[in-house]
Amino acid sequence: RVAALLKELEERCATPVGKLRQVADAMAVEMHAGLASEGGSKLKMLISYVNNLPTGEETGLFYALDLGGTNFRVLRVQLGGKERRVLKQEFEEVSIPPLLMVGGSDELFDFIASALAKFVASEGEDFHLPVGRQREIGFTFSFPVRQTSIASGTLIKWTKGFNIDETVGEDVVAELTRAIERQGLDMRVSALINDTVGTLAGGRYHDNDVVAAVILGTGTNAAYVERAHAIPKWHGLLPKSGEMVINMEWGNFRSSHLPLTDYDQALDNDSLNPSEQIFEKLISGMYLGEILRRVLLRLAKEASLFGENVPPKLEIPFMLRTPVMSAMHHDTSPDLKVVGAKLKDLLGIPSTSLKARKVVVQICDTVARRGARLAAAGVAGILKKVGRESVARTVVAMDGGLYEHYTIFRECLQATFEEMLGAEAAASVVIKLANDGSGIGAALLAASHSQYRELEQ
Ligand code: BG6
Ligand code: GLC
Repeated sequence: RVAALLKELEERCATPVGKLRQVADAMAVEMHAGLASEGGSKLKMLISYVNNLPTGEETGLFYALDLGGTNFRVLRVQLGGKERRVLKQEFEEVSIPPLLMVGGSDELFDFIASALAKFVASEGEDFHLPVGRQREIGFTFSFPVRQTSIASGTLIKWTKGFNIDETVGEDVVAELTRAIERQGLDMRVSALINDTVGTLAGGRYHDNDVVAAVILGTGTNAAYVERAHAIPKWHGLLPKSGEMVINMEWGNFRSSHLPLTDYDQALDNDSLNPSEQIFEKLISGMYLGEILRRVLLRLAKEASLFGENVPPKLEIPFMLRTPVMSAMHHDTSPDLKVVGAKLKDLLGIPSTSLKARKVVVQICDTVARRGARLAAAGVAGILKKVGRESVARTVVAMDGGLYEHYTIFRECLQATFEEMLGAEAAASVVIKLANDGSGIGAALLAASHSQYRELEQ
């Protein structure tokens, strides 16, 4: 019975390269549709109002707030101009209490603003702000936002583990600004960006060939540089650069070519956002461990994988997190010690046979590889849309805990990408980790949209 269920899972999760090509093609088609009109596609293809990426000339002291990953972060960066120099940077990381993710809007923004206030108070003398100037912030808000300018935009919907109804439809910069004022702080938000856009900006600061950025973390998403005249739904002035960064919100991509299983359907039904973010639910860190848990639960119930009784903790949603899955997946000890220990510590299963442990690793492999291969297909879809064939070198900046820490996932993504493009074409495309690009990116974009910018020139 175990073998039959495993076989079924593998068949349903299969992503042969032909299927991945269909996914990449569908991604490119949806990109066109999303650019053509508002609501034209599941892919929102949001206009970021970022039409100039960092040049390296940015100078001054800027702050960044980053909300939407596992942790909330505050940064300050002293930019040194000319030679792309970050003179000094400091950051602090705070985890968001889970209750705040599903509570009230003011509570969440007050929490953020108070962390910011504490952080500002700790500013040392190495950081320098000219007299009489307001401190400025780049706000990385990693959720779908319909921007109305570079520094304003309304929340379309929450994703990942957040769900605060009253914020939907509100201008998140206004929300943050009010919370900052409640703290008695004098600061101005000069750029509102998605984490993908921040990663793209941070990536470009270090490498001129960066044209796209992908986040593979709690959630997943991508942003890339589009030619402004290829955006029919943009009715504003054509930017001088001729370019506009698009936040794809690819987590919401869906296509009949996606290999969905009963486990995925059930996960989706039980989620905070049913029938949304389907691509994200197949790929990202918030969900991979949960898919694994669902498969194990079925095997425990229908094939007594862990003996007569079904371990009660296995019934608890999100009990198996992706970092644990990754640890088990990377277990190279002959008796799969790590797997045994995790099953014991986390799920209270006192002892497991080597056979059962092997099954667990096999499921990790099936689920993680499907996610990594689909992510690679997504990147291939973007490259197809932007048509970089004639360009010598193209760089895609990647960030997020899943990509950074889950080695098998990362390597599988790279290998799949080469499999799809062919070794020669893949050689001109570099996929590279841009760790914390989004924090620096936010500070850089705050600098280029500073209210004092004219004075600097
Ligand atoms: C960070 C970026 O490194 O990765 C954030 O700076 C981003 O902006 C985050 O949101 C996503 O990672 P995770 O794994 O924390 O969701
Ligand atoms: C979710 C958010 C998106 C973000 C991504 C990665 O998909 O909707 O805005 O970029 O997670 O953090």
